[in-house]
Amino acid sequence: MKTLIVSYLPSLEDSSTKKILDAFTSSIKNSTIEYLDLLKNPPSFFMADSLAAYRMRNYGGVKLNKEQETSIASIDSMCQQLKSADIVVLAYPMHNFGMPGIIKTYFDAVLQHGETFKYGAKGPEGLMKGKKALTIYTSGGGYSADKATHEYPNWDTLTVLSKIEFSFMGYSEIEIIGAQGTLNASPGYKEKAIADASEKVKKIAEKWNL
Ligand SMILES: Cc1cc2nc3c(=O)[nH]c(=O)nc-3n(C[C@H](O)[C@H](O)[C@H](O)COP(=O)(O)O)c2cc1C
Repeated sequence: MKTLIVSYLPSLEDSSTKKILDAFTSSIKNSTIEYLDLLKNPPSFFMADSLAAYRMRNYGGVKLNKEQETSIASIDSMCQQLKSADIVVLAYPMHNFGMPGIIKTYFDAVLQHGETFKYGAKGPEGLMKGKKALTIYTSGGGYSADKATHEYPNWDTLTVLSKIEFSFMGYSEIEIIGAQGTLNASPGYKEKAIADASEKVKKIAEKWNL
């Protein structure tokens, strides 16, 4: 069993998100772990040449020439790496009410027709069935639609988009664990939020027998 950990943690050692990720990785006993640090290996954007190559190959069935293959090679390698993992974990902070752009770019790279999803007779079909995905995030504010007095009700696009992307690829289990309120000034608030989220991710590692 292979667990792929994809991280974007620009706060480095000060990262609140990293603390929760560390709690998760330290409880892995059975699975091999592969790391993809997006700070060191950022995903490429689809540009005119790579997008044309992708369309020709993944929708048109055309065999690419060397130059076309090269234009899409780094995007392909992230997609193949994701396909090789049974479990994927994404860890990143919330930026501007959603996933940071680099994480969206990662999803743009790995959501490939014929690789992680396909359009069949019955419409779109995820090709990652049987696999599991965990998102670990932290946010400075709190987001809970069920609390009328909440500061930003429904402004959280991170959890909804994360669920959509993994569901579209057909992941069988999708977990999203966040510590919200890391910028809350009440003494101990942030620490408790991180500790609670750390307990939750440890339980997920146990549940998935990692
Ligand atoms: C550029 C930037 C944008 C942010 N945008 C939001 C936001 O929209 N909502 C929020 O609740 N917190 C926001 N924050 C706060 C972070 O999500 C929060 O401090 C988080 O815990 C940081 O995680 P880290 O320590 O792993 O970097 C933002 C922080 C930065 C640096």
